[in-house]
Amino acid sequence: MKSKNLKIILHGCLLTTAIGFTTSTFALTNEEQLGRFLYFDENLSINQNQACASCHLPEAGFADPDRHLPVSEGSIAGKFGSRNSPSASYAAFFPEFTLKRGVEGGQFWDGRAVNLTEQAKGPFLNPVEMAMPSKAAVLLAVESSPMGYSQLFLQVCGNNAFNDARNNIQPGIENAYNCLADSIAIFERTEELSPFTSKFDAVEAGQAVFTAEEEEGLSLFTGRGKCAHCHSLGGGKEKTVFTDFKFHNIGVPSNPELISLANLPADFKDPGLGGFLNDPKEVGRFKTTHLRNIELTPPYMHNGVIKTLKEVVHFYNTRDVPGEWPEPEISDNLDSNFVGDLGLTDAEENSIVEFMKTLNDGYIAP
Ligand code: HEC
Ligand code: HEC
Repeated sequence: MKSKNLKIILHGCLLTTAIGFTTSTFALTNEEQLGRFLYFDENLSINQNQACASCHLPEAGFADPDRHLPVSEGSIAGKFGSRNSPSASYAAFFPEFTLKRGVEGGQFWDGRAVNLTEQAKGPFLNPVEMAMPSKAAVLLAVESSPMGYSQLFLQVCGNNAFNDARNNIQPGIENAYNCLADSIAIFERTEELSPFTSKFDAVEAGQAVFTAEEEEGLSLFTGRGKCAHCHSLGGGKEKTVFTDFKFHNIGVPSNPELISLANLPADFKDPGLGGFLNDPKEVGRFKTTHLRNIELTPPYMHNGVIKTLKEVVHFYNTRDVPGEWPEPEISDNLDSNFVGDLGLTDAEENSIVEFMKTLNDGYIAP
């Protein structure tokens, strides 16, 4: 059942839903294909109107296509989460959460899900996301889905899955739900989410050249802009995903719009990693995001407070220049070595932005 030679390739455009599910162009194993169905299936939400892809849409760099809101609306209208939807692409490159090499890895802005499988178990049952009442209800929604992959589900996750869900047999439900989450994680590790087809990759492969401005942007990114201290470039065989997989407090201001949408108290401050670890030394730290397809995923930061890439760079350049920015959401554990007053000119800020735009996938070399 788990072998790679059981590949299904679907030809043509057999299925489309409101959120743009089209068939994969890659050859997928059964588990990958199952994960793909699950990822795009709106039937797995309480009002049958929201899939993983709704907040992590391929065309939007696998983040929320709604550029105007800092947070995402759930399946139930008017319910909003309290963080910006990050990209689900390249998430597979984050190692499992660990404390062994300092704090590193994990999924979510605060690293609280150890890996993609644990992450995928959450959204279905989260009341401000897909809002399903139980794991059994999710399994039965797979069975009744108009996308028609219930047989594939039984084949991958066991023949009793739906019967166990109907008869409330807990161990069976747990097994099938774990398998469902695993399948999504397996899909998230495919090339479809991490294609490495940007201009940056083409330049690395010697198939394209940067413009002078992009080139300057890259040297500022690794040099006086200090970005690469945290958004690291790979070395040797490592693929470059522009993150050190660690957590930092770069001191972004709080976002009143988020506080109002998510119905939080006016003085709300997101503790990030410090909240998860219950450790004051980690308060205010968030994961260093990867920067691939970053042009497609505004707004930016855990609270969506920064709207454009130009403003992001201006923020790093001038955070500590008096009068430029409101005070940090959290001032503890602030990074002051690499961020704050970089002395970049306006043109240099623009070059860094132009460099970041070379990280969009789907580049076709001339
Ligand atoms: C209503 C919008 C919404 C839906 C639906 C949703 N997500 Fe998310 N997703 C988010 C938000 C917001 C976060 C960040 C939450 C946090 O850090 O606390 C997130 C985080 C993630 C991450 C972590 C990425 C990172 O860089 O840490 C992954 C992976 C992910 N989601 C995959 C999924 C999958 C798979 C599903 C379906 C099972 C799903 N999401 C459904 C909004 C959504
Ligand atoms: C000290 C480490 C550090 C340095 C230096 C740094 N970053 Fe970041 N970057 C982060 C962290 C951590 C976040 C997430 C912060 C948050 O949401 O509170 C982030 C977020 C971002 C985002 C938004 C990502 C998203 O998905 O919303 C962009 C874009 C970005 N950085 C670009 C840059 C650029 C360009 C530079 C250099 C001018 C830079 N960073 C320097 C750590 C760093």
